[in-house]
Amino acid sequence: MSAYLQCIEENCQKRISPTTKAHVCPDCSGLLDVMYDFQITDPDKSKQTFQQRRLSNDPLDLSGVWRYRELLPFCPDPAKVVTMQEGNTPIYEAPHCAEYTGLKRLHLKHQGLNPTGSFKDNGMTAGVTQARLMNSRMVACASTGNTSASMAAYAARAGMKAVIFIPDQQIAFGKLSQSLDYGALTLQLEGDFDEAMKMVKEITEESEVYLLKSINPFRLEGQKTIIIEMLAQRGWKIPDRVVVPGGNLGNSSSFGKAIKELHDLGFIDKMPMVTIIQALRANPLHKTLIDRSARLIRVEAHTLATAIKIGNPVSWKKAMRAMEWTRGWCDVVSEQEIADAKAIIGRDGVGCEPASATTVAGIKKLIQTREIDKEEDVVAVLTGNLLKDPDYTVNYHQNNLYEKASYKNELIERKDKIQSTFANAPLKVKARKEEILKVLGL
Ligand code: F0G
Repeated sequence: MSAYLQCIEENCQKRISPTTKAHVCPDCSGLLDVMYDFQITDPDKSKQTFQQRRLSNDPLDLSGVWRYRELLPFCPDPAKVVTMQEGNTPIYEAPHCAEYTGLKRLHLKHQGLNPTGSFKDNGMTAGVTQARLMNSRMVACASTGNTSASMAAYAARAGMKAVIFIPDQQIAFGKLSQSLDYGALTLQLEGDFDEAMKMVKEITEESEVYLLKSINPFRLEGQKTIIIEMLAQRGWKIPDRVVVPGGNLGNSSSFGKAIKELHDLGFIDKMPMVTIIQALRANPLHKTLIDRSARLIRVEAHTLATAIKIGNPVSWKKAMRAMEWTRGWCDVVSEQEIADAKAIIGRDGVGCEPASATTVAGIKKLIQTREIDKEEDVVAVLTGNLLKDPDYTVNYHQNNLYEKASYKNELIERKDKIQSTFANAPLKVKARKEEILKVLGL
């Protein structure tokens, strides 16, 4: 088997077995990469093979992750793969968003159209497959909601017990409902995501439970296929830039690794820039970058985009590396900018959850500051489905969205109102034909 784990720290680079339970380097606690002695000799032939697999009904070929298996060859036994036909997500041209941001054209790759409604499924099929390869019966994660929903579903498919640690009162109902329905043991911890993360790490280190948080390098292997599939869908025409929200920074890390590997293997001859967008007050990566700090500058995170309400992201070093490799950058957007961008994405008939809208908000900002050129070929990755967090959307359109509010519409304090610039509130109308015709202007 050609896969192995390797410490990402330059001065360590320790290699360890892919079946070790450790998720960090046993010598220096550095993050680990899954590495391979790739067997690919002719990238053009591989591209053709990927294309031909679209006509196949083999379960691996039907998956938008395993269709590209030669680029993540860590599973020696195809029968062990746990798949729900994840990936296969569309790229939409988004004229309203393009006009709003100032770009000539903008494309949205909608990862929210995955089986459980977020990009986490791309990673979870790989993570749960690895758990199965290691004969794990119980898997665990800490989550702001999407990872837990995805892990619960894939664990159910694999016949494993799922334990999820979520921050009390801070996850959107759409996500919570999924974990409950998929049968996961759901532990709501007092405190925020970063505390839940710390607990799950301690518990998985000391027990047989397999950790499926994004520090798990196998999950990131699955998420690489978001980039691979995007390029395949574009006939391998390389965009100038890929824009992605930043929370725990798993996605941006895997995008960097995918782009670097595709470049090294000769699939692409230039690297699209990876631009990461964080919420203004959940901005540890941006702060670290601006301050040129060698250590992560943690923050106490605040944002209504609960998916990215993270102040101590585990994969920050890999995200730094992604930006370095691709000449990328990280920026921040305000709650107001996120809310308005989300409504504009909706106008394109697409829709997403708040965290995803950081992308369009970020592009608009970076066009204004001339970091992005109007002519650039940009793909924004929408990470989660609109229906994950309906409270946010309904509150925005009813002019009732506050920065300091809980997810359940029970206001903690009515403070820092977000302007509903593009509100589309429902109208109350009497159930009488004349009244309705009047409202319709007929
Ligand atoms: N968008 C959505 C919809 C997410 O759920 C997440 C992360 C992100 C963006 C950020 O991605 O962590 O790879 O930088 N959600 C995690 C979770 C933290 O637990 O579901 P990232």
